[in-house]
Amino acid sequence: MTIRCFVAGWPVSHSLSPILHGYWIEKYGLEGSYEPKAVQPADFKDFLINIDALGYAGGNVTLPFKREAFELVSKRDSEAEAIGAVNTVWLEKGKITGGNTDAYGFEANMDDNAPQWRDAKTALVLGAGGASPAIVHALLKTGISHVHLANRTVERAKTMAEHYGPNVSYSSLNDLTKVTGKADLVVNTTSHGMGKGADIEPIIALENFKPHTIVADIVYAPLETPFLASAKNAGLRTVDGLGMLLHQAVPGFEIWFGTRPKVDGDLRAHITERVNLT
Ligand code: ATR
Repeated sequence: MTIRCFVAGWPVSHSLSPILHGYWIEKYGLEGSYEPKAVQPADFKDFLINIDALGYAGGNVTLPFKREAFELVSKRDSEAEAIGAVNTVWLEKGKITGGNTDAYGFEANMDDNAPQWRDAKTALVLGAGGASPAIVHALLKTGISHVHLANRTVERAKTMAEHYGPNVSYSSLNDLTKVTGKADLVVNTTSHGMGKGADIEPIIALENFKPHTIVADIVYAPLETPFLASAKNAGLRTVDGLGMLLHQAVPGFEIWFGTRPKVDGDLRAHITERVNLT
């Protein structure tokens, strides 16, 4: 039986997920498909509640539907509950179940590229938009002592920080001198460097960091954001965002197809050879 899956977004044409899941379907010799579905926002509810009837085993939900999917599913896993968004759906006894694999993707990518991230005591997270809660959740799970959340619009950082309690502080992006001197890990979750050339200023100045600070960006287009480029220049260890995208796809693929796929250099090369991540 052919197993059919989807990625639903609006728009969806930019999604790398079909290339990634298509690679694994072929590599593991599976009978299946993974289709991009451009779903108009007004039609999303109708689409999601009918995936069984439409012949799908499950799929991914991307922008702008991750929050709406959270509201619509019949059941959620603990990661979706903690993050407040759903990026992966599947059927359990006919019930539409929603999970969130973004924190897992971040953790696995960091484990691959800078395993010492788990020893960080203080982290600075830039951004309080849709991508930020998964990163803060992943950090708090490691038992980190302190997360500082900095956002251009300080009100959003305040609301998020208050939700997490005393281990998470907040500020605007302008006043970070005290924090940067303490951070063992800095993660950019904003869209600031997305699709921009190297000529724009990094989101924050990389002054004052400790030499062992790890600098990660969850943006993967460009692969080297202005922020990562300036961190590299400053001699800091950097982790780009492509690995998070690859790893977050693993749990969904395993649920739908019953095979746990591997993230390796061949997969990364398959993507970077086909997609211009500049
Ligand atoms: P989404 O929910 O889709 O992630 P978003 O809510 O617009 O999108 O969040 C994007 C994040 O990038 C936010 O933290 C945003 O900051 P604001 O909350 O102040 O809007 C941040 N961001 C986007 N462009 C930025 C820029 N040029 N400089 C700094 N932060 C930026």
